[in-house]
Amino acid sequence: MDILPEDSPTWQYIEETARRVTRKYGFSEIRFPTFESTELFQRGVGGTTDVVQKEMYTFTDREGRSFTLRPEGTACVARSLIENGKCSDTMPLKLFYLINCFRYEKPQAGRSREFYQFGTEVFGSASALTDATLISLAHSFLTELGIKGVHLHINSIGCPECRPQYRDALKSYFASRKGELCETCLSRLDTNPMRILDCKSPICSGIAKDAPKTIDHLCPDCEAHFAALKSYLEAQDIPYTVDPSIVRGLDYYTRTVFEFIADGIGAQSTVCGGGRYDGLVSELGGPKLPACGFAMGITRLILAMEASGVTVEKPKGPLLYIAPLGESARVKALSIVSALRKSGIVAECDIVGRSLKAQMKYADKIGAEYTLMLGDSEIETGKANLKRMSDSTQSEVSLDGIESYLKTLRE
Ligand code: HAM
Repeated sequence: MDILPEDSPTWQYIEETARRVTRKYGFSEIRFPTFESTELFQRGVGGTTDVVQKEMYTFTDREGRSFTLRPEGTACVARSLIENGKCSDTMPLKLFYLINCFRYEKPQAGRSREFYQFGTEVFGSASALTDATLISLAHSFLTELGIKGVHLHINSIGCPECRPQYRDALKSYFASRKGELCETCLSRLDTNPMRILDCKSPICSGIAKDAPKTIDHLCPDCEAHFAALKSYLEAQDIPYTVDPSIVRGLDYYTRTVFEFIADGIGAQSTVCGGGRYDGLVSELGGPKLPACGFAMGITRLILAMEASGVTVEKPKGPLLYIAPLGESARVKALSIVSALRKSGIVAECDIVGRSLKAQMKYADKIGAEYTLMLGDSEIETGKANLKRMSDSTQSEVSLDGIESYLKTLRE
């Protein structure tokens, strides 16, 4: 996807806010490859998920190996920790990432085939304190962005202990509506009936509305974990709704799942999705390592910011624009601008060879605060007129002293 220069300030603002908020919570950045072996996602995300069955961009390399453009980051981070021997580091390991992802989905507002995520993952803690801290991080990030009308929905989808019983209940419910299910869900009935719950087909999702709920089939440990999560959220004054319809579309989740849903941004209103995934690291060949995380779609955050009336300031123009006339003035302008930049001042001069009139028009367009015209006589006398663009007032400055003069303006 193209992110044009006029839109970059908003993207940078979101990325800077992500870095600032994660730093407050003690997270470090992780970067990882754009594509991974296809098997990683089949095993990690799950072979019966929509992401793996319908949405992956997969290709074969020159040696016949199958690779996939990352549809998400969690499996990649888990793979990276295992491969780099990080599973025995001091725990918890608190990581964040800013990545592009690829899914072959139907493009619409808030859903594109290449999209960007801000994600976090915490490894090495099974405590609901971790889930509550991650949710608090997401909540304060959304608040710092100025997004209003966003609601937290939480649920627990149990663990391998309580899952078989729930699976049976689900299977018999969907079996009773077998004739109405789509072909993919029909095949999921035996392999993974939980995935029918997040099928995007309107008929299947209609049937799924009355399906048995995970929350009614939790084992005592999962129930206690969920109760603890709720009390930790309350302790931090984070409002939430228990929403049994949140099951998430990826297979690795256990226990806590959550989403932040924004008002006023259309059908693709989930700005953040996440949860606990205690079995993923061992599923991928690593040790037993509990983990929890979330990811947010950046384009959806932008839509939510717009809906909340948040505008991001465009960067200011240069402090000084020098408009030279003639070759020796051009050389002098270059040398002044270069010295100013070295001392941290944002300065520009003509690099096109435009007429003086065109240069002044350009300086105005880029929002230069001051301009300085430089011709042979200015070079001879070593003095020039500095013009403040906002009110056209002029003051004479010495060319040698321009740097210290501009610095006094900044103070
Ligand atoms: P996910 O729900 O698949 O979870 O994606 C997370 C977020 O990415 C969504 O809530 C949405 O904001 C955004 N998103 C997903 N697909 C698209 C798309 N096609 N276009 C635009 N935005 C999109 C995950 O990816 C998990 N890895 C999250 C996680 C991290 N769970 C634990 N740790």
